[in-house]
This record gives sequence, structure tokens and C-alpha cells, in this order.
Amino acid sequence: MNTVEIIRKKRNGEVLSSEEIQYLIQGYAKGEIPDYQMSALAMAIYFRGMDSRETADLTMEMVQSGERVDLSRINGVKVDKHSTGGVGDTTTLVLAPLVAAAGVPVAKMSGRGLGHTGGTIDKLESFQGFSTSLSPESFVQQVNGIGLAVMGQTADLTPADKQLYALRDVTATVDSIPLISSSIMSKKIASGADAIVLDVKTGNGAFMKEEAQAIQLAQAMVAIGNRVGRQTVAVISDMEQPLGMAVGNALEIKEAIETLQGKGPRDLTELCLVLGAQMVVLAGKAESMDQAKETLQRAISDGSALDRFRQFVKAQGGDPRAVDHPELLPVAKYVQEVKAPDDGVITGLIAEEIGLCAMELGAGRKTKDAVIDHGVGVVLRKKIGDTVRQGEALANLYVNDLEKAKQVEKRFLQAVRISKESVDAPRLIRALVT
Ligand code: URA
Ligand code: CA
Repeated sequence: MNTVEIIRKKRNGEVLSSEEIQYLIQGYAKGEIPDYQMSALAMAIYFRGMDSRETADLTMEMVQSGERVDLSRINGVKVDKHSTGGVGDTTTLVLAPLVAAAGVPVAKMSGRGLGHTGGTIDKLESFQGFSTSLSPESFVQQVNGIGLAVMGQTADLTPADKQLYALRDVTATVDSIPLISSSIMSKKIASGADAIVLDVKTGNGAFMKEEAQAIQLAQAMVAIGNRVGRQTVAVISDMEQPLGMAVGNALEIKEAIETLQGKGPRDLTELCLVLGAQMVVLAGKAESMDQAKETLQRAISDGSALDRFRQFVKAQGGDPRAVDHPELLPVAKYVQEVKAPDDGVITGLIAEEIGLCAMELGAGRKTKDAVIDHGVGVVLRKKIGDTVRQGEALANLYVNDLEKAKQVEKRFLQAVRISKESVDAPRLIRALVT
């Protein structure tokens, strides 16, 4: 096969065969096809697109390029959940123990924070001693024992995607639906999922700012899943404002605990029930969404979901006492109120900016090797649609550095819109793609 011919074919808008896609991806992974040819191909895909067969082939070739996690020794349907990334998105921490309590095995690979969005592993490391470096054996054993485990990404998962993603990042070819959808789905499939629930965010804090784009991305991922025998559903959810109230590692752990106790923020609770119900149904543990939601609500009210969380923290080396005594979690030295400059209604809380405020306080990394501060972050006191009086608290900043707090306060105020005219809170669940 001839790489130049294949690039030309895609450039001219033709459909590539399965063999051609295999040749390209395996050749690229082995270093036989250079970056400059792959860059040209990525740009051709950016302009010409790929049909759903090509996209599914691309996905599976990236899966084949590296190791795959073998979850066959775990009983039951392994349903993974993936979020396209948001601010204050604590859903995994709630969902994992919640659906585990409903009998769905959760064998999850998670990542660290990236830019203005947080990462599940960073959040879990708020528990002193918590470790996500599990061997594949203890990972499987733990899921069979207590129903859930979270580990860090293994180094050799989908190396072709890693290479291609780095290349896309520097060639203006990240925002292509076939490239994004195959990238995300390849990682889910390589990490052993039988079925996948996607939470595709839309709004200023999300990758896909427009709802129509988010739906297109969701449709592409669902199509891949269905073509390769992994039942996939996608929920499109709002990321105009942060999810829940807390943004920051230990603060989000506390929020997750409250949600597992049935005392969490309304939006976070609702999203967890919607995503969780999809997972329970895909795992075959309920006949309908309503029945699944009832099961999950029971796991919250009878304490079994919280109990799973305790067992999980203990199994991975964390201090389970902190689940019942969150004051044992790291907490910042100072809590500073940000006060409303005006009377009115909150009409905007720019999620991306608020994520950056938390990062600025030390909750996220500015450089790859930066050490994060688990106790700092932002806790919102108001959300879009709430009324506020001048001088009333908009948020609490949890800080260890008062100088920094001043700068972040200014930045936070710029992320807030207060108006005299009232608005409705944005709809949390925008669409469902199956
Ligand atoms: N996240 C991914 O994993 N891949 C993409 O291409 C975009 C976002
Ligand atoms: Ca939150």
C-alpha cells in the first residue's frame, strides 16, 4: 500500500477501506509512517470527515495498537461511564459506589486533572494514603470483592491514539468529530468496557460549546459503540455553569459524600441518577429507567451506596473514617467570601473561568509536574437563576495564600453575570442519544 495514495484518496473525499485504515494506524504506531504524513491525513479527515464504518475501523485499530485490559474474570456486564470533561464534575465519585450498590461491577480507569477540568484520581488522593496504582490482579480481585475499583491509566493503552492526539494538538485538527469520537471510544474499549454510558457536556465550560455539536459527537460515539458490539448511550448535559457547588479536590469529595447521603446539590444528584439509571439498565439489573432510578434512590436512602464508598476508600489504602468525618480531609487555612457587587439575578457563572479560578488557587496543575493542593477551591453559594442582594455571598474561596485570594476574587467576579431581569436555570439534561 502507498501512504501518499491513501492521503490523496481522503483529500479527494473518498472512503478509505478497512485495510487502508489498518495500514495507516499500525504503520504510524510502529513509527513506519512519519508524523508529517499523519498530519496531512488528519487534516484531510478534518475537512472530508469519515463515515461511521471508517470511524469504527479507526477506533478498533487504535485499540489494537496497544494493551487491552482483560476484565473477563469479573462477573457481570462491565459498564463504563465517560464524561467529556467539565468543571466541578463529581459524578464518577458518586456513581461508582452508587451503581456498585445496585449490583453493577465498576472497573474504572481514571485520569488526572487537565487544564480547567478536574480529575477523579486527584480528587481521590484527598484521602490520605489512597492509591490508584493497582496491579491488574488486585484490580480484578477488588471489583469481584466489593464491586468497584479505580485505577490509573496503564502506560500502554491505545498508544496510536496518544501519538495521534499529540499530533492533532499541534496541527489544529483536534476538533474533528471522527477523530474525537474514535479517540474517546478507543480508550473505553481498550479498558475493557462491555457497554458505555457517555456524558457529553455542552456549554462554555465544555469541549463542545454548542448543543448541536455535542449531539453530533454523541451520535458518532454511539454509532461506533453499536458497530463494534458495545451498547452505548449518551446523555447530553449542561456545562454552562459548574456542576454542583464545589470545585476543588477535597471539596468535591465532601460534595460526593453529601450526595451519597441524599443531601447533595440538586443538579449533581439528578445527573447521577440519570447516568446511573442508564448504567443499571445496560448492565441488565433493571427493566426500565424508572425501576433503575428507584433502585438507586433506595441505595442512597438505606446507606448502602455510602457503605460501598467506605469499603472502596479502605480497600485502596485511604482512611475510611474521613467518609463519616470529612473534617479529616485536607482543608485550606482560610475561607474567604466573595460578595455580590449588586442586587439582581445570577444569569451567568462561566464554568471555564471558575475552573481556572480553582486551578489558580492550587486545585489544578499549571505545569505537568506541579503538586496540587487538595484543600483549596471554590464553593458556589449561588447558581444561575438565583436572586442575590448586594453584599451577599456568591461563593467561598478556600485558600492557603491570601495574596492569591485577592487576584482570584477579581477573576471570579468577572465570571459572574448579575442582571435585573430574571432567567431560568439552564436545563441540565438536554438530550439522550441511543
Ligand atoms: N478527549 C479525547 O480523549 N480525545 C479527543 O480527541 C478529544 C478529547
Ligand atoms: Ca461539584
